[in-house]
Amino acid sequence: MTGTKILGFGGYQPDKVVTNDDLAKVVDTNDEWIRTRVGIQSRRFARDDETVTDMAEAAGAKALAASGLEPSEVDLVIVATCSPESPMPNVAASVASRLGIPAPGAYDLNAACAGFCYGIGAASDSVRAGSARNVLVIGAEKMTSWIDPTDRSTCIIFADGAGAAVVGPAGEGEPSGIGPVVWGSAGDQAQKITIDGRNGSLKQDGQAVFRWATTAMAPVALEACRRAGVTPAEISAFVPHQANLRIIESIAKKLGIPRERVADDIITAGNTSSASIPLALSRMAEQGRLQPGTPALLLAFGAGLSYASQVVTVP
Ligand code: UT7
Repeated sequence: MTGTKILGFGGYQPDKVVTNDDLAKVVDTNDEWIRTRVGIQSRRFARDDETVTDMAEAAGAKALAASGLEPSEVDLVIVATCSPESPMPNVAASVASRLGIPAPGAYDLNAACAGFCYGIGAASDSVRAGSARNVLVIGAEKMTSWIDPTDRSTCIIFADGAGAAVVGPAGEGEPSGIGPVVWGSAGDQAQKITIDGRNGSLKQDGQAVFRWATTAMAPVALEACRRAGVTPAEISAFVPHQANLRIIESIAKKLGIPRERVADDIITAGNTSSASIPLALSRMAEQGRLQPGTPALLLAFGAGLSYASQVVTVP
């Protein structure tokens, strides 16, 4: 079986910056509470007329350009999203068409905030098995369309954006640049994060999810390192789902990964669900915090409760 690697990645954020003070004009909250309890200073909200498909297209175009591939070389498109504008048509086929990718396999994947790592796992396995040559994986979310703007427990956390990566075969004799995915779920806790019905809005039992993330996720990340044959000390960048800076720092501490190697894009991006990991990767690259050829650890978790983790080589 062939090895796989990430050929390129990219992110897209909407223009509108929303600060904590902006939200404090609408709900009973304040900058101090949000910074200390969640770690967010500002986030981006999509325009009313901006769709998940639009943001997915923008991020997908960047990842495709970074990969150096022609659209015709991509034959599978996976869009991880839990907030599409409608269940049909799926986002993936429309995005592929807009990007000029001719007749690829195209499907949407819903593992909520874990979706991007599920997508990378599925893409890598598809290339290894020979059912795809190159795969465009996108995480795209318009969380604000499923948030009650008057609910202070959620409206200060969630935000919009998209990120993407292209997965392709590793070169002859080159070691695989995508380690085995460690994925799973705790469906007995499915009611901890929900959107009820067509007109519902996102509700979560924040404290319960916080406890689960800070206890159950470090072992998952460690297992991903073990299966990839690296130790946490060798990880050059730890890119966990950007749900809460306190969760991020707690897991990093358990893994013994120093703070300067840890993604903290939540500070200016908020929680963008399946878009958060590729957006955080893109931010680290812009900041010059990624070293090509070194191992980065991805760890995603959220509603389901679903989770996934893998080690990837920075392209
Ligand atoms: O991405 C999907 C996965 N989701 C997660 O990983 C979320 C995990 N959970 C969390 O990140 C945190 O639990 C939250 C950020 C959601 C909440 O933080 P917390 O420290 O667990 O706060 P809490 O819900 O226990 O609330 C503490 C207090 C309450 O007041 P009382 O009852 O102590 O008087 C809340 O009413 O803070 C109050 N509160 C707020 N105060 C100001 C809740 N939201 C706010 C707010 N501004 N926005």
